Amino acid sequence: MKIPYVNFLLQWEKEREELLSIIENVLASGQYIAGRFVEEFEEKAARLCQTKYCVALNSGTDALIFGLIALGVKPGDEVITPPNSFIASTAAIVHVGAKPVFVDVLDDQNIDPEKIETVITPKTKAIMPVHLTGRMAQMDRIKRISEQHGIPIIEDAAQAIGSTYQGIPSGKWGSVGCFSAHPLKNLNACGDSGFLVTDDKKIASQVKLMRNHGLADRNTVQLFGYVSRMDALQAAILSFRIDKLDNVTNLRRQNAQLYAQLLDSSHVFFPKEQLTESNTYHTFVIQVDRRDDLKKYLEEAGVETSIHYPVPIHLQPASKYLEHGAGSFPVTERQANRILTLPVNQYLAKEQISKISHLVNGFYERN
Ligand SMILES: Cc1ncc(COP(=O)(O)O)c(C=O)c1O
Repeated sequence: MKIPYVNFLLQWEKEREELLSIIENVLASGQYIAGRFVEEFEEKAARLCQTKYCVALNSGTDALIFGLIALGVKPGDEVITPPNSFIASTAAIVHVGAKPVFVDVLDDQNIDPEKIETVITPKTKAIMPVHLTGRMAQMDRIKRISEQHGIPIIEDAAQAIGSTYQGIPSGKWGSVGCFSAHPLKNLNACGDSGFLVTDDKKIASQVKLMRNHGLADRNTVQLFGYVSRMDALQAAILSFRIDKLDNVTNLRRQNAQLYAQLLDSSHVFFPKEQLTESNTYHTFVIQVDRRDDLKKYLEEAGVETSIHYPVPIHLQPASKYLEHGAGSFPVTERQANRILTLPVNQYLAKEQISKISHLVNGFYERN
């Protein structure tokens, strides 16, 4: 039997009745953009992130772009970020005209705080850690650097809804926190969606204006804005799913714990969860030798896997102008050849995790 990486159809089957009633509710309301469904989701997301404000948007990418603009990042400025994220983190920096300044990562795939200070210049206007896989970067150290240098943090928390570090949720550490609710995320819409959280009223107001043409009211354009509103339909679906997020997180955490028990650590590395953190396992990434062979072997055995991400951002054709050759960020580059994402979604049975673990262990025992 095949083990899929994600299982949208099972999610649909399990939520069918509730989703159909939500859709009917929204369509019958005649309120398709803005309004109570969006406001309800914003209240719930702000509560989860323990922030004063949440602004619902069309995507996580827009949350990053608007967050940078609201922090005052301008053409010619520099923003520090890791080179091993989804392309949207760096793309957002480029789209506001700033220069992405990459900092290599640690064993756990998150930005190395020690290296951040070495690249700060008078042009540095923001630090953008990415909480890759649902594991948060070392935010206490990053926050200290941010405060010492007066440089704000914009958290790319697209993969980390509900994660905590030292008991503080993702999105709460930075001046702004940016989330994606793309269908693949733990808190997922049935289409594109994202949101930004902040404690800063001015930032929240500015982003609210930006998402809707800069319109302060129907006929007053306060600033030249964009169109990046969350649909009422997506907001209503997310409001329903955010109430069940704890359960999703717990199931993913149980799956990860089972992997941790079963996978043979002499062949398979994955960062252990520290007492100070609670990871939500948006992905479960192992680091192994002969990754491509293992991937093929699992595929032939019916196990779908993925790689997040096989080509580091600084080595993408689009980054050529930044002039980083191979070898510039050795930890990221080494990991890019060794990382493999195993299925960890909440619909997996224990037997499936066992089967995958035994296949992985068996591959290395036999080879
Ligand atoms: C780390 C990271 N940043 C940003 C994004 C962008 O989010 P979206 O696809 O909602 O624009 C994603 C989503 O894939 C992501 O994983």
